[in-house]
Amino acid sequence: MFRCLSCPLCSMVILIIVLSAIIIIILASAFAGKHSSVLSLDKAPVANLGKNQLLSCYQQIIKTMPLSQMSVTWTKSEVPGVVYQFKNGAVDLENQSPQFKGRATVSSVDLLTGNTSLLLSTVRSQDQGKYTCTVSSSAGGGAVTVDLRAGAFSAPSFTLSNSTLTAVAERWFPKPSVTWTNLNGTVLHGNTSLNSNSAGVYTVDTVLSPINMSNTYILRIENDLKISVSQATLGRVGSSLSRDSQTSLTADTSSSSSGGTPRHSQAS
Ligand SMILES: *[C@@H]1O[C@H](CO)[C@@H](O)[C@H](O)[C@H]1NC(C)=O
Ligand SMILES: *[C@@H]1O[C@H](CO)[C@@H](O)[C@H](O)[C@H]1NC(C)=O
Ligand SMILES: *[C@@H]1O[C@H](CO)[C@@H](O)[C@H](O)[C@H]1NC(C)=O
Ligand SMILES: *[C@@H]1O[C@H](CO)[C@@H](O)[C@H](O)[C@H]1NC(C)=O
Ligand SMILES: *[C@@H]1O[C@H](CO)[C@@H](O)[C@H](O)[C@H]1NC(C)=O
Repeated sequence: MFRCLSCPLCSMVILIIVLSAIIIIILASAFAGKHSSVLSLDKAPVANLGKNQLLSCYQQIIKTMPLSQMSVTWTKSEVPGVVYQFKNGAVDLENQSPQFKGRATVSSVDLLTGNTSLLLSTVRSQDQGKYTCTVSSSAGGGAVTVDLRAGAFSAPSFTLSNSTLTAVAERWFPKPSVTWTNLNGTVLHGNTSLNSNSAGVYTVDTVLSPINMSNTYILRIENDLKISVSQATLGRVGSSLSRDSQTSLTADTSSSSSGGTPRHSQAS
């Protein structure tokens, strides 16, 4: 080696080899960069607990690809093993984490068109976290990270009896805060209880008493994923809620939840 470096021609050859290697690496990474178009339609999905959720990941390709040249690996940060793996033309779940056994699939029909989205069934709260989808195919390769959060949201239903207005919302997660106000925005003191079931989902049970007839009450239930605003208008006569009690549910973030969420409800 030392003897070689001492020879001017020899060190020139080494220099040329090193320089061309560097050029090849730069070209290769530029080429790979251009083709590593692994994308996601939604990098921050919010799943409805207990429901199925698609984690979007796809490669932009012109035509269908040979599956034998395709490999797809879904992993979750801080979870050993894989969530799902496809390699050498077949599904390979040997290293699958027990947490995802029987719950993670990628459609083989979609794979042909570069759609490597993961379908996670019956989402649990511990499924929340960062998932990485790594794809390599004849069209190139790359990776994308999807941050999954889970929640549960349902509109409250109202009942009125004995000057007491009760609202019950069956499914909320994460733990929500509950506020009653009148139309003027004045905060009223309700008696709220939040009970969680074995899956960690809360039932909101809140009571406003005594209430005054011919008033409108606004109930706001919110967590860092969703805000539900309901309006209950009491009839002037008798102890009945008027028909226009309604709820609107809005996402607190740019992402919206998928499926299973009632957007409007009517109480009477
Ligand atoms: C991928 O496939 C899923 C259904 O398996 C579909 O909902 C989704 O829109 C597809 N994504 C793209 C980018 O085609
Ligand atoms: C209604 O209120 C009255 C007095 O405030 C009470 O005696 C009665 O038990 C209440 N009825 C119900 C069903 O809560
Ligand atoms: C709301 O405010 C108006 C005037 O500001 C007042 O007359 C009315 O009594 C208030 N209503 C309630 C329910 O507090
Ligand atoms: C709130 O409701 C619970 C039962 O649901 C009752 O035990 C408690 O006394 C109530 N608190 C107030 C301040 O009314
Ligand atoms: C009902 O009206 C009384 C007096 O106007 C008031 O003090 C009370 O806070 C009202 N109750 C509710 C639930 O709005």
